[in-house]
Amino acid sequence: MAKMKFIVTAGPTREFIDPVRFLSNPSTGKMGFAVAAAAAKRGHDVVLVAGPVSLKTPKGVTRIDAVSARDMFAAVKSALPGADILVATAAVADWRSAACAAKKLKKREMSGVLRLVRNPDILKTVKGVKKVGFAAETNDVMSEARRKCRAKGLEFIVANDVTQKGCGFGTDTNRVTFLRKDGSVERLPMLTKAAVAGRIVRECEGLGL
Ligand code: CTP
Repeated sequence: MAKMKFIVTAGPTREFIDPVRFLSNPSTGKMGFAVAAAAAKRGHDVVLVAGPVSLKTPKGVTRIDAVSARDMFAAVKSALPGADILVATAAVADWRSAACAAKKLKKREMSGVLRLVRNPDILKTVKGVKKVGFAAETNDVMSEARRKCRAKGLEFIVANDVTQKGCGFGTDTNRVTFLRKDGSVERLPMLTKAAVAGRIVRECEGLGL
């Protein structure tokens, strides 16, 4: 098995409105850290681009911390030279506040309307590496996963229904389905995130780089 260089994104992003407030989501980074750990254990080079999470860096992994989606994008770009594969597990905020105030906003200064602008789509934009994505959905799981796999030019996408018990944000287990670009589907049983991560890394190794 050839040694590969993985870039893994993990965790949430924070999009600040002022120095003390931000838009974010409940991602804990567990799935991405598990993928990074599994790849390092298999002898691969791993750069883990982590949003704000409280997890220990897995052994043998190079970690770059990022706060916002734009930071995360810059960190991924900096890791691209020599990389073979990007595994994007991060829950990147799709939108950020159009402005970030330099000082804490007072409620009397706020109108009740927050203007948002789109963040870059990291996974869709990156070129020159093989790409693997995640689709955490609450409905139309497989059709959404298929759409994202095609739209973002992925080798395969890891789909999961986050409304199921034992799945999604903060859990130690996950029940996922691999959907490959050739249309084939593989449903995995409920597994620990470490076991799911192992399966993802094996699937990446099989892509024939
Ligand atoms: N992703 C990314 N950068 C973004 C948004 C998403 O890299 N700005 C990656 C995620 O890490 C994940 C995949 O794209 O691997 C799908 O993320 P998701 O939020 O489900 O996709 P969106 O394109 O934001 O889809 P939608 O809002 O239509 O559900």
